Formats: sequence, C-alpha cells, structure tokens
Amino acid sequence: MAIGVEMECLSQQDFCSNKGAVKLGRHATRSNDYGYRRQRRKVRKGTLIWIVVLLALLITGYHYRAHIYAFVDHFIAGPPDGGTALPPTDPEPEEEEPAEQEPEPEDPAGEEAGGEEPGEETEPGPLPEGELPQAADADYLLVLVTKQMTLGRYTPSDLVAVPLELAAPGRENWGFQLRREACDQLVLMAADARAEGVALFVNSAYRSYDTQERLFWEYAAIHGEAEANTFSARPGQSEHQLGTAIDFGGTPYDFTDSFGETPAGIWLAQNAHRYGFAMSYPPGTQAITGYIYEPWHFRYIGVEAAAEWKESGLVLCQFLAQKPQDWLE
Ligand code: DAL
Ligand code: ZN
Repeated sequence: MAIGVEMECLSQQDFCSNKGAVKLGRHATRSNDYGYRRQRRKVRKGTLIWIVVLLALLITGYHYRAHIYAFVDHFIAGPPDGGTALPPTDPEPEEEEPAEQEPEPEDPAGEEAGGEEPGEETEPGPLPEGELPQAADADYLLVLVTKQMTLGRYTPSDLVAVPLELAAPGRENWGFQLRREACDQLVLMAADARAEGVALFVNSAYRSYDTQERLFWEYAAIHGEAEANTFSARPGQSEHQLGTAIDFGGTPYDFTDSFGETPAGIWLAQNAHRYGFAMSYPPGTQAITGYIYEPWHFRYIGVEAAAEWKESGLVLCQFLAQKPQDWLE
C-alpha cells in the first residue's frame, strides 16, 4: 500500500523527464527509508494503542465480571415461557461436595427408612406424579411443598413484577414476578437492608410448572436425575411455582454455600423472618428437606407465621407439616 503510494508520487514527478531513471533511484531509496521509518513508527504506535485498549478492556472486564457472568449466563439459559427474556435458573450446585448433612433427631425420612446411617441415601424413588397427593389450595401461604406431593399445574393469580432495581445485575430483563404480598414485603425488606448498607438482589422468583420442568430435566441430563433432584425440584414440587420463593444473589458467590457468608446472606439469615421470609433449605438438613443447603432460597409465609417458625427452630417443611394441609380428593 505505502509502496504503491510512493510509486504514484514518483510517476507524477519524474517519469516524464530524461533524468527520471537516476532521480527515481535516489529518490526511491530516500523515500523508501523514510517510508520504512514512518511505517515502523506507525506500527509501534498501533501496537501501543492496542496494548492500552486491551489493558482498559481487561481492567473494565475485571471490574464488571459479575455483570459479564450474568450476561453469559443469560444467553446460555434459553428463553422463558413464551417470552424473549431469559428464565430464572435454579442453581447449579457448586463444584465442591455439599456439606456433610446431619440428620435431625426428628428425621421422618430416616425413621421411615428404618434408621439408616447418617449420610446414606434415605429417599425412596419418586412416585409417578399422578399418584402424589395434590395440594388443594396452593394460594395458602403455608402450603406444604415436598418431594412427596405436587402442586399440579397451579399458577398464582396475583403475580406482579418485581421492581427492576431489585433484579441481580444482568437479569433486569428476566421479567421476575412474585405474588403481590411477597413482592411488597420484598421491597420493604430490600429498602431496610439497603438502609443498613446491604444490597439484596433477586436471581430467581416465580417459575411456572413448565419452566421448572425444563430446568429440572436440563440438570438431570447433565447430573443424572437423582443428583439433579438434590438441588432442583421436580416440576410441581418447587416452591418457586408458588410465586412466593426468591433466590437472592448478585454477588460473586451466587448459588454457592459461600453466599451465606456474604453481607446479603448473613443479613437475610438474621432478618428475613421479620419480613415474613423463611430459609427453606438450611445447612445440615438434606435428610429432612431432600435438598442441599441453599442459603439463597427464601420463601414468604407471612410475617406472623415466620415469627412462629423462627421461634420453633424447626426446618420449614417440618413447621408447615404441623399446619393444616388440604389435599385434593
Ligand atoms: N432449588 C429448589 C429446591 C427448587 O428447585 O425449587
Ligand atoms: Zn430457589
């Protein structure tokens, strides 16, 4: 390119004279030297600019890594029910083994299984969905949700949009929804947490039966059905289908045990009950709940019930099992 330009210049100035050939040789050599140096300077300048741009990108990328992860996650997750936004995911478990699960004294699963050793698989295989008792009224805030029942295709009738500013970075267009009362209480709780310097963000909220079905079987394809069911509910068995469960996050530790040690995780564990939320899957209770520790997953059960639950010291499903439950005939 540069040589072409040079030749064009020479042809205009010298090719028409008799001395053209001699002049051409000297001029071309000087021009080539000059061009070469100019070219080198250009290359050096270009390289420097690229290095500066790359460094700036690296620094910016590091700073916004949480957003980038969320963005990537967003495009891997696939579209939600009939929408263009992407669905809330349930968590992949962190790579490390789940914490050792200590069966509680009142471990109904252990008793049913004839007193097997702690840590042993005590869960019976799943019953076909049609044979499971179905909750008669899933609008009931205290409805028991376990692996031994189904919500059927229940859909809450009073879903509202979670305020965008509460969506975890990168998930603003996921269209999170919750039942109205749960959403109002979330807004109140997040404002109070913020006043104490703690940011609460939503990673997942309401999930339809269909979304849960897709998620569960995606996880099952990767991890196997039994393992998937230790961190993802089967369709019809997720508290997220109630429209009252929230996965909190927006930290570098989302969907890991370590979320429980973040300011948000600590604040939620200490305060969420005051707003009506209960941690459904606390540490060391897998033998009771069937699920690994999920410090990010909270379910709204109402302020009064949550106070009673906290006072009881029971795992949420044990507490709810003591409340009246209606099943379809
Ligand atoms: N991760 C919980 C168990 C759910 O899928 O509802
Ligand atoms: Zn959850």
